[in-house]
Amino acid sequence: MSPHKIALIPGDGIGVPVTQAAWRVITEAAAREGAQLDGTWFDWSCETYLKTGRMMPEDGIDQLRKFDAVLLGAVGWPAQVPDAVSLHGLLLPIRKNFTQYANIRPHRLLPGVTGPLRAEGFDILCIRENTEGEYSGAGGRVHEGTDNEVAVETSVFTRAGVERILRFGFEQARKRRGKLASVTKSNAQKYSMVFWDELTDRIAAEYPDVEVSRYHVDAMAARFVMAPETLDVVVASNLFGDILTDLGAAIQGGLGFAASANINPDRTAPSMFEPVHGSAPDIAHLGIANPIATIWSAAMMLEHLGEKATADRVMAAVEAATAAGIGAKPGANTTDEITSAICEQLG
Ligand SMILES: NC(=O)c1ccc[n+]([C@@H]2O[C@H](COP(=O)([O-])OP(=O)(O)OC[C@H]3O[C@@H](n4cnc5c(N)ncnc54)[C@H](O)[C@@H]3O)[C@@H](O)[C@H]2O)c1
Repeated sequence: MSPHKIALIPGDGIGVPVTQAAWRVITEAAAREGAQLDGTWFDWSCETYLKTGRMMPEDGIDQLRKFDAVLLGAVGWPAQVPDAVSLHGLLLPIRKNFTQYANIRPHRLLPGVTGPLRAEGFDILCIRENTEGEYSGAGGRVHEGTDNEVAVETSVFTRAGVERILRFGFEQARKRRGKLASVTKSNAQKYSMVFWDELTDRIAAEYPDVEVSRYHVDAMAARFVMAPETLDVVVASNLFGDILTDLGAAIQGGLGFAASANINPDRTAPSMFEPVHGSAPDIAHLGIANPIATIWSAAMMLEHLGEKATADRVMAAVEAATAAGIGAKPGANTTDEITSAICEQLG
């Protein structure tokens, strides 16, 4: 089999060391499993923007399209480049152009990691709609600066958009514990969210083997804290998913553990894998960034590429390291110590 072609975009701040760490771990794991990875590094970042006036070259999307997957560290250096520029110049065009409509985030407490709650049985896969809904960008402002000023921001829910994210959720539930929770607020939002509920019922009929529940987003937030063991796959709109996944990240011990994937389920373009965290300018030069979120994201990438054995080997090594206390507590180990400990556990 030909090697999997991976585009590596470390980006800014701690994005650089955590991407290097993830690449080291997954290439060592791949060598043990006989999987072949071919990485190409791209220095697209805020530094590139300051030098060239662009976060990525004009043909950046075309360049990336040739790859099987993208692994990204983090983008943003707000002291020198406004966040809107870095986000709209790199991350968002990739997600949009490659139709990465499913944003998936696993929330699970790794062995040895103590979150802020006693969340036993906390193992949830959150799936967030990534292209429309409340973040459609449809809206405008009139009478700006006057007492009559009005701002309107319209959520856009399309049948195609909602059906495809729900179907993706049902497929994931089939691969896990067979339960899907659909999140809306249909008591208050009587058009879009009732529509979402109706489509949930309709798609559920195609998956009789999956147990379906419906929750309002406020009740779901409470359930994350009070009864997480009742949840398996959670599917939510762009805004609701955004908020719930931050809650999930907090419960699992913080941003150092929060992995994510932007998936194009139809595989018409590469999917992108990245930690949830940003470039963390406050600790960028201290060498203490936790690389686990990025290593976990890279493991999700391997699984997406069909290298499940290598992905499992990576996650087993991460869990062995945290169980031994390495990387389990914020700031207690350096990035290099955590990476080396994980590599030693690869077997
Ligand atoms: N997907 C992305 O690339 C992405 C996501 C979020 C923020 N950002 C950008 O990153 C920059 C900084 O944003 P922010 O400070 O709001 O969020 P951040 O995620 O970079 O940092 C928030 C806090 O969490 C800590 N933290 C984050 N990741 C950590 C890790 N792996 N190990 C240890 N501690 C970690 C940081 O030190 C900081 O105190 C901004 O420019 C922002 O736009 C980018």
